[in-house]
Amino acid sequence: MSVVSAPGKMILLGEHAVVFGKPAIAMGIDLRLTCTVRKGRQNTVNGQPLSERHHTYVAAAIRDHWPGGPLDITIDSEFPSGSGLGSSAALTVALLGAMSQMGGGIDEESVARAAFDVESTVQGRASPLDTSVSSHGQGIFVDSAPGKDLLWHIRRDSRQWYVHHCPVPDLTFVVGFTGIRAPTGPLVAKVKRYVDRTRFAKEVVDEIGDITVEGAKRLRDRDVVALGGLMTRDHNLLAILGVSSPELQRLVDAAIPFSYGAKLTGAGGGGSMIALTDRPEKVAGAIARRGGVPYIVRTGVDGVRVEDILH
Ligand code: MEV
Repeated sequence: MSVVSAPGKMILLGEHAVVFGKPAIAMGIDLRLTCTVRKGRQNTVNGQPLSERHHTYVAAAIRDHWPGGPLDITIDSEFPSGSGLGSSAALTVALLGAMSQMGGGIDEESVARAAFDVESTVQGRASPLDTSVSSHGQGIFVDSAPGKDLLWHIRRDSRQWYVHHCPVPDLTFVVGFTGIRAPTGPLVAKVKRYVDRTRFAKEVVDEIGDITVEGAKRLRDRDVVALGGLMTRDHNLLAILGVSSPELQRLVDAAIPFSYGAKLTGAGGGGSMIALTDRPEKVAGAIARRGGVPYIVRTGVDGVRVEDILH
């Protein structure tokens, strides 16, 4: 038996644009998903037979990355699926981690590569951002060229991503979950259609890329005022791309008076927003009053991690 966990994530800057090869910054958060994997008589997930339709990520991970016999898989998560906090990446990473552990040991980079494969297969189109941050933990900066603290390089069709370790300063973030679960694939496809059809949307994606590069510098300098301003600008550009929603906007508006900046995080369309603040209780209260579920999160967490092994 192998018990492996992986963290959820928040994207600080650059979601959606990263799918087009632009830079992005993401951090692991202290909400984890744990997979307990045993050899079984048939493939099961939480006591139910594996369904190709309902357990898409698990089915793809087993089909493409597990050469052994049937597995009995139990999933425990501290955060909801479809919440924009990287539940599918954490599930894929923890499961592939448990499989690697059963095969001899976990290598962070191999897990990140295999997990990106699974996400791309299931979602149709993806970047390695979510799966890389869930594997590595801490913070990552994804760029189109190599730089300091390079972890790995991933290529797909004409796009490529250099994944770097990014130190995480001691900052306070509040996550607000709208309660609306939004699958990533259709939102990524919607942005692609927009960018394919209009020059304007392509320029918006380019501008998100520029904001992210600027944000990486501000994060290094711990300049929370500038960083917060960039987060709010990024949110407005994501709204122009059509991935915000009235519920997300309501939570962002509620957080802004007590924050340096706030934005949707992840694919959008529902899911969650984040706020950078030094008044987390105030922000959490404002989010709850507008019907959101607040989490005051800690960053600087481990990536894929073995919790237990039994022979
Ligand atoms: C989803 O968490 C992040 C997106 O940029 C998709 C991806 O990077 O694969 C919207």
